[in-house]
Amino acid sequence: MQLLVNVDHVATLRNARGEGYPDPAEAAKVCEQSGASGIVFHLRKDRRHIKTEDVYRLKETVTGNLDFEMAATDEMLTISKDVNPELITLVPESREELTTEGGLDMKTVFEDFRDRVFPAYEDTNIAISLFVDPNEKDIELAAKLGSDAIELHTGTYANATTEADRNHELSRLKEGAELAHSLNMKVNAGHGLNLDNLAPLVETVPHLNDISIGHALVSSALFFGLDNTVKKFTAIMQNAE
Ligand code: PXP
Repeated sequence: MQLLVNVDHVATLRNARGEGYPDPAEAAKVCEQSGASGIVFHLRKDRRHIKTEDVYRLKETVTGNLDFEMAATDEMLTISKDVNPELITLVPESREELTTEGGLDMKTVFEDFRDRVFPAYEDTNIAISLFVDPNEKDIELAAKLGSDAIELHTGTYANATTEADRNHELSRLKEGAELAHSLNMKVNAGHGLNLDNLAPLVETVPHLNDISIGHALVSSALFFGLDNTVKKFTAIMQNAE
């Protein structure tokens, strides 16, 4: 299990003033020095946080795993192949959303991914992960495409307000992880994870590989510092192993 820090919100803060700081590549360096195994960024169509030039700077700076989160547009396919990260994570994206709202609807995207998207990466070493909700049908279709990994959407778990709902979501995530693992895919997870809800997740859900955390980590860093915050998150993950 390893922590990949999503640095989108460092870029959000930078863009709020139009100055050159804080720099997502500089933050990435601190995160890696503090124990993160890699960095995630989402280059959105509207470039609301990470800009194209940030992607190339991150590629130069990051020494661990680089996960390029993106919608499967032709533009993103071209940029990601040029950047050549270890991993791309394909997500649904709409202009109105504040953040990624749900997993991919695999039934809807299946043919396009099979005919256009997956073939585009055949001549590369880039691994593909699909961001999906923890349900059997989507996970099975991801495996049918030959995906290297799935990223389980943990947002519903993170937003659950009662103990019963939280436990229900944890069992769905556990079953989803077991299914994906049995279908030979790596299991990643992310969305809405924080210092309170991470421990129950990593203690319950098996086979977890990359855990991608952004908003809560960058927010906690305001109070604890980036270095300390990364250490707090990685300590929770290590305790569960
Ligand atoms: N994984 C995916 C696929 C995401 O879209 C996001 C949000 O950008 C995250 C993980 C990280 O979520 P959060 O910022 O809530 O930690």
